Amino acid sequence: MEPHNRRRFLATAGAAALAATAVACTNDDDDEAGAVGGGPARLYPYRGEHQAGVTAGPSAAGIVAGLDVRAEDRSELAATLTKLGSSIEQVMSGEPYEDLPGGFPALDTGILGEDIGPAGISVVVGYGDSLFDDRFGLADQKPVELQRMPKFFNDYLVRPERSHGDLSITVSADSSEAAVHAFRQIMRETRGDLIPRWMREGFNKLIAEEQRGVAPARNLMGFKDGTANLDTGDPSLMDDLVWVSPDDGQPEWAVGGTYQAIRVIRMMVEFWDRTRLNEQEDLFGRHRDSGAPLGMENETDTPVFTDLESHIARANPRTPGSEKNLILRRGFNYVGGFDQNDQLDQGLLFVCYQRSLEDGFITVQRRLDGEVLEEYIRPLGGGFFFVPPPPPDGEPLGGTLLA
Ligand code: HEM
Repeated sequence: MEPHNRRRFLATAGAAALAATAVACTNDDDDEAGAVGGGPARLYPYRGEHQAGVTAGPSAAGIVAGLDVRAEDRSELAATLTKLGSSIEQVMSGEPYEDLPGGFPALDTGILGEDIGPAGISVVVGYGDSLFDDRFGLADQKPVELQRMPKFFNDYLVRPERSHGDLSITVSADSSEAAVHAFRQIMRETRGDLIPRWMREGFNKLIAEEQRGVAPARNLMGFKDGTANLDTGDPSLMDDLVWVSPDDGQPEWAVGGTYQAIRVIRMMVEFWDRTRLNEQEDLFGRHRDSGAPLGMENETDTPVFTDLESHIARANPRTPGSEKNLILRRGFNYVGGFDQNDQLDQGLLFVCYQRSLEDGFITVQRRLDGEVLEEYIRPLGGGFFFVPPPPPDGEPLGGTLLA
């Protein structure tokens, strides 16, 4: 057998085995745990009712980027989105790329070796507010709450050149190599059609299953992150708080989608590392090591607030009516070297999803405006996007939007 034919054969056999064994992920704890320990790896479907990456389990690596489209009219936009969608579909499938005979550049990066397989890759695409400007005649199709991310209280370092975008691309994967592979394939296959605005690479050091309580990871301030996050395994909770429903008064194509808020938030880690532990804990409202609410033993204990000053009390005061403000957080830590003053550039790629931007991120962020944590963080960029449902079988990305 010719080497490349052999590879193709192995790959096909591999793909069949994959279909049999690799979970089209259900996001339950077992799958997530398996991925951490190198057990059964994860494969997320590209098609379906919702973009799978939104509720995909916590992942070890990610890339978040904002890009503009080069298209000048509707048909060019359709072509760009079609290409983008098929690139994402291929990279999420875990299936091998077509083999070209020697003399041609290989169609895949090669980073994941010959048998790509399930690598926990999920890619979430979002449409930015600017996609609905006058270039493509889409103004009347804009999701009702989509807007350019405004400046919040502590946002004096948020710059347009490292924010917003016609599109967002959010890659999650089980390893940095898989995230880089996915992003590079997508960039390669849409070259000339997408203009990058900003990009950040992120990671999560997932806590081993045996030691894990509720939160899957810690942030770069050393605290458990995700303790009080929404349970993505509860479909009715996701319907209530994450997915746009037919009676939300949204354009028809948007049903099954969700709003995405991204914030690149730098942490002033040198200052943080010189702050007393009890001050740090007061500021968040949780103990650093255990993740338990202040004065309590367990991460799962329900916090009791004496005032509404701490980060968790402001973010979720647990007052009547505040349940509708709950958001699904799906962020990453990031590390970006040193700034011009030799200070470490580290922080949080905050990403969250919600059915209503106003009830979700905007309300929560307004409550956080003025919190003590602000002394230790500087938001640098981000954006608001709308994550459409995946295209129906056989149809291209953007088909329903542009119909
Ligand atoms: C660098 C910035 C931030 C850091 C270091 C941080 C850290 C934390 C920590 C340690 C917790 C407690 C553990 C948990 O439940 O996950 C928490 C909870 C939470 N954070 Fe943040 N956070 C940041 C920014 C934000 C932003 C921008 C928002 C939204 C606007 C937000 C919303 C929340 C919410 C909703 C909770 C859960 C509160 C609860 O239900 O108890 N956080 N955060």
